[in-house]
Amino acid sequence: MKRFEGSVVAITGAAGGLGSQIAEAFRAEGARVSCTDIRKPDSVDPADLWTVGNIVQTSDANAFVESTRERFGALHVLVNCAGAVGRSMVHAIEDDDWDRVVGVNLTATFKCTRAALKIMRSQEGGVIVNVASQAGVRVQPNMAHYSASKAAVLQFTKSVALEYAPKIRCNSVTPGLIETPLVRQAWIEFANQVGITFEEARAQRLSVIPLQRFQTAQNVSDGILFLASKEACTITGTNLDVSAGELIPR
Ligand SMILES: NC(=O)c1ccc[n+]([C@@H]2O[C@H](COP(=O)([O-])OP(=O)(O)OC[C@H]3O[C@@H](n4cnc5c(N)ncnc54)[C@H](O)[C@@H]3O)[C@@H](O)[C@H]2O)c1
Repeated sequence: MKRFEGSVVAITGAAGGLGSQIAEAFRAEGARVSCTDIRKPDSVDPADLWTVGNIVQTSDANAFVESTRERFGALHVLVNCAGAVGRSMVHAIEDDDWDRVVGVNLTATFKCTRAALKIMRSQEGGVIVNVASQAGVRVQPNMAHYSASKAAVLQFTKSVALEYAPKIRCNSVTPGLIETPLVRQAWIEFANQVGITFEEARAQRLSVIPLQRFQTAQNVSDGILFLASKEACTITGTNLDVSAGELIPR
């Protein structure tokens, strides 16, 4: 029997690089999958439920979670993966940019969690996994709104775990850098700015990672599936660091 046979899994940010991989991984393990994002990919698995919406809005967050229960009759796992990045020093962050980053990373996580808890409480069980970031622990320049919102997600995870034990578990993961086309583009820009090559920029970033590798989306989804699985039944209120060692205190 597959690990998530009979489970209903709801995933936010499911059109994104990581969210789509998480959906695929749960599907491959037998789960029925409910996806939401602000945009729908051109091609989706016909077995999935797809809801398009802005989950920073209470109505869209509620509609996503409620439609999952209506279609599949339950909600066993919620993965809060939707996220937004901003790059700016604090003095230059515009109100709109602050609201956008904090809104998607923190407020939408709260709103989807709140909606899911109503169902999970009534069915007396459930698991929530929040996608935070190593930037929520190890501060980096030019992303205070991103770092602050991800740090808040780590703390929010613990609050939920404590309040809803023993029936409901809640944990987080902290990815480091996943080498996506967007990330590679950022290195090209950085390399051009400081007058080094792309390879030098990539090598500089790699040199501070103890395991000397970037993660793949699958590395991160492996951690998320573990936290959502029965094998993690004694784990709640914790963070699984999947950043290849970037968070080892030094
Ligand atoms: N890529 C990395 O290196 C990395 C590292 C650490 C943490 N993370 C975290 O992983 C998660 C996924 O990142 P990704 O790399 O797949 O990025 P991504 O941009 O590909 O995916 C994020 C998804 O969230 C969706 N989204 C944004 N605002 C939304 C809203 N208001 N309502 C609904 N959906 C919304 C976007 O449309 C997008 O599809 C994020 O939380 C991110 O912070 C990523």
